[in-house]
Amino acid sequence: MSWLNEEPQLRKALAAATGLIAGTVLALTGPASPAAHAASSTLGAAAADSGRYFGTAVPAGKLGNSTYSTILDREFNMITPENEMKWDTIEPSRGNFNFGPADQIVNHAIAHGQRMRGHTTVWYQQLPSWVSSIRDANTLRSVMNNHITTEMNHYKGKIYAWDVVNEAFADNGSGQQRSSVFHDVLGNGFIEEAFRTARAADPAAKLCYNDYNIENWTDAKTQGVYNMVKDFKARGVPIDCVGFQSHFGAGGPPASFQTTLSNFAALGVDVQITELDIAQASSTAYGNTVRACMNVARCTGITVWGIRDSDSWRSGDNPLLFDNNGNKKPAYDASLSALGGGGTGNPGGGIVSGQVYSLSDVAAGRVLDVPGGQTANGTTVQIWDANGTAANQQWRASQNSDGSYTLTNIASGRVLDEPGGQTGNGTRLTIWDANGGANQHWRASQNSDGSYTLINVASGRALEIPSGQTGNGAPVQIWDSNGGANQHWNFK
Ligand code: XIL
Repeated sequence: MSWLNEEPQLRKALAAATGLIAGTVLALTGPASPAAHAASSTLGAAAADSGRYFGTAVPAGKLGNSTYSTILDREFNMITPENEMKWDTIEPSRGNFNFGPADQIVNHAIAHGQRMRGHTTVWYQQLPSWVSSIRDANTLRSVMNNHITTEMNHYKGKIYAWDVVNEAFADNGSGQQRSSVFHDVLGNGFIEEAFRTARAADPAAKLCYNDYNIENWTDAKTQGVYNMVKDFKARGVPIDCVGFQSHFGAGGPPASFQTTLSNFAALGVDVQITELDIAQASSTAYGNTVRACMNVARCTGITVWGIRDSDSWRSGDNPLLFDNNGNKKPAYDASLSALGGGGTGNPGGGIVSGQVYSLSDVAAGRVLDVPGGQTANGTTVQIWDANGTAANQQWRASQNSDGSYTLTNIASGRVLDEPGGQTGNGTRLTIWDANGGANQHWRASQNSDGSYTLINVASGRALEIPSGQTGNGAPVQIWDSNGGANQHWNFK
């Protein structure tokens, strides 16, 4: 298959990342020895500790295999359908849509609390010949837009991010788009058209451009994609993220990978590692890849392209984190450790379970506050000047068995709560009777400045004040974790 001809060339092994975010534990007021807290022991949980996800590609046909699904549901909290959302499966003939195989995967994800990446609406491969033979621009435009709209509508509300356009750039060093029916018949503008159509179809989904061999900063292909994203942002074309497939040779990522991720992120998009596999899966190569993402605040997650080596589309390279029997390989441990899990990190380790704290937002210098005298279920919380030891500003941190914390307000006896089922960016926080729900569980990971980022377990989003709103009475909400001072809280 032509895929393998396009596999990235082997790269020199180089230490890409410039050092781990240190998990320093600062002394907090209160009892001298912090309660011991084991670091997260799965890829998904360790990634969630920093507001990220860890995903894998899944073929519908393997969901019924219990060895497979046990690992899937233990380790991964994001799923990409390996082939089931591609054009040849979804719309094999014009206007005939076949959602069955992808629905199986989406239903599995919903049942197991996993999120979904949609892959992919517009791609020149796995494209039926009825599309690739169209020569009339008006026909192709309407076929493309109808495909995007119908597929995204079907999955509306269930997809975290869509690869709207996949692999549109050439490998020939030109930095230009590749030849494809879309490019050749519609011109360069087909990508913009696809993104605008996608935004209208599902405004809540993040819209990504996804490609391979764009990991090395100086490559012409990388620069071509970068210039496109820069242009889209400048002109208001809707784009939210760039996926770096990261099908690496044995040397792993290029030395500039972290630079590439942060340069794209600086354009105002999220970046994600979307199809990671590395020939021979050395620990060093995997560790370097995961650290490059961890070191970039807007690198929101990592997806490996399969679970066991035998599941891989490049199975001859043994490129994944589990062997054919489902055992963890050394690269698994290196990846878990780079995520801060597996006994090396100490997320939340400075917070003493049972201790009462005030939580001060670093951007505002004001504390998490339940308006005075208002103690009922559903009262919305705010920030306010710290008032000494006023009980409406005091919170008891109690550690849960999953390592997260429940934060109980002392004045009301009620806990910090993300309203049930409301997991979107901008959801306002309330107090509610404690009920043990994931929406009342907060994972704490310590930042290098000693403050904590608090990630809600139900939404995977961070506790914050809206950017720039630092005054008394400013609201408190959840948002995608981005490392901002408005998402940093000091426990005092
Ligand atoms: C691959 C699948 O893993 C294979 O099962 C299929 O035969 C070909 O496609 N880039 C992509 C993915 O965006 O969709 C490809 O997946 C791998 C390369």
